[in-house]
Amino acid sequence: MTNLKTSSRKKVFIETYGCQMNVYDTELIKSILSKDGFEIATQELGADIVMLNTCSVRDNANRKIYNRVHEIKHANNEALIGVLGCMATNFKTDLLENSKLKIDFIAGPDSYKSLPGLIHSLKSSGEKQYDVTLSEFETYSDVYPSRQGGVNAWIAIMRGCNNFCTFCVVPYTRGRERSRDPFNVVDEVKRLVADGYKQVTLLGQNVNSYKHEQYDFTDLMKMVSDVEGVERIRYTSPHPKDFPQKLIKLMSERENICNQIHMPLQAGNDRVLHKMNRSYTKQEFLNLVDEIRNIIPDISISTDIILGFPTETEEEFLDTVDVVEKVEFDSAFIFKYSERPNTRAAQKFPDDVSEAVKKDRIIRLNDIQNTISMKKNNNLIGTTQNILIEDLKTKRSEDEVQGRTDCNRIVIVPKTNQRLGETLPVKITAATRNVLKGQ
Ligand code: 5AD
Ligand code: SF4
Repeated sequence: MTNLKTSSRKKVFIETYGCQMNVYDTELIKSILSKDGFEIATQELGADIVMLNTCSVRDNANRKIYNRVHEIKHANNEALIGVLGCMATNFKTDLLENSKLKIDFIAGPDSYKSLPGLIHSLKSSGEKQYDVTLSEFETYSDVYPSRQGGVNAWIAIMRGCNNFCTFCVVPYTRGRERSRDPFNVVDEVKRLVADGYKQVTLLGQNVNSYKHEQYDFTDLMKMVSDVEGVERIRYTSPHPKDFPQKLIKLMSERENICNQIHMPLQAGNDRVLHKMNRSYTKQEFLNLVDEIRNIIPDISISTDIILGFPTETEEEFLDTVDVVEKVEFDSAFIFKYSERPNTRAAQKFPDDVSEAVKKDRIIRLNDIQNTISMKKNNNLIGTTQNILIEDLKTKRSEDEVQGRTDCNRIVIVPKTNQRLGETLPVKITAATRNVLKGQ
């Protein structure tokens, strides 16, 4: 069998699609591969192996990936190509059997430790390799991710999901929920602080379901918050059905837990919510927001919304609009419903809201949300905010630096002698919908 430790073909380039969990998973994969003697390439050109870490939560991600595979093969016929992540689990057969696709190996989200073995077997046998087994136990708690550096570090505290929202493919692609030992998470946070990180963001599909022995999510947050040197703690995402009051209280008491919650609404109509299997009503969501704001008045709340879920009527859409107007989210990610294979919605509810109607609703709701976001940002002009400096340049300029407020708003200030990772008071002088400017 070829040993890649001595073989020359061990330069790997990984491209990441989708959510923060996938960004984190790529960091795990890099760590696993580096330990086995692979070299991580920073560009596709010249790589021996190209891996695409995929997502299949929305849209037609497949087409994008299929096109990428052709592109990569076209540019570098010798490269071995691997498809990893959610698509690997959900579209295993097509990925392996579609003769037009030149894919050499696939690995699902719980199989990344098998990657070195898969590549060794591929090289020795010349046969396509795959491992998409989902595990009830794998949490990768023994792998310290190869992070890119910077100010924020992602940490997955749990994997998988047991909620089975009817539109969502995650329970099928990422398997059952499992939580990491809180002491292991705390050890990682301590190491991150020692490595210079200022902020940690705890990741899980539904963080309120976190449970390890007697420890729940609030206990974990308390333990992480107690780690000396962690300046900012964020988490994403909680489910509105079981948001614990004690967590709100803890957030209000702890300086280093940010005043920010990303809490997916998905829909504002009770019938649609029920059909989505979301287990809360419009009123319960509104009450929860009130409860949170009563305890933390200046909290920033963002959300995810799906429009055009099967059978959603205009009137039901207006219930979602009503929640958006009542809550006044700081920002909202608004998506058109897209049918995902294997989900309960795909099996039971025809995707019967036309593309034109979905498009119309998304434009209308985005307009409403944009006005709200603009108003909220304008309200901050003249205030002074503590900004954690995250980048010593911006997309547009080398003469500006960029950071975030505690509430996660992006702030751009002229470059002076700021240092990466320092927190500075900034007077807000101007605002657009997405960005604040300051001095
Ligand atoms: N169609 C559209 N949006 C979806 N999301 C998840 N599944 C779908 C789907 N089938 C959205 C949800 C979720 C976010 C990560 O992606 O709003 O919160
Ligand atoms: Fe998907 Fe619902 Fe689980 Fe979120 S909570 S990952 S939307 S099934």
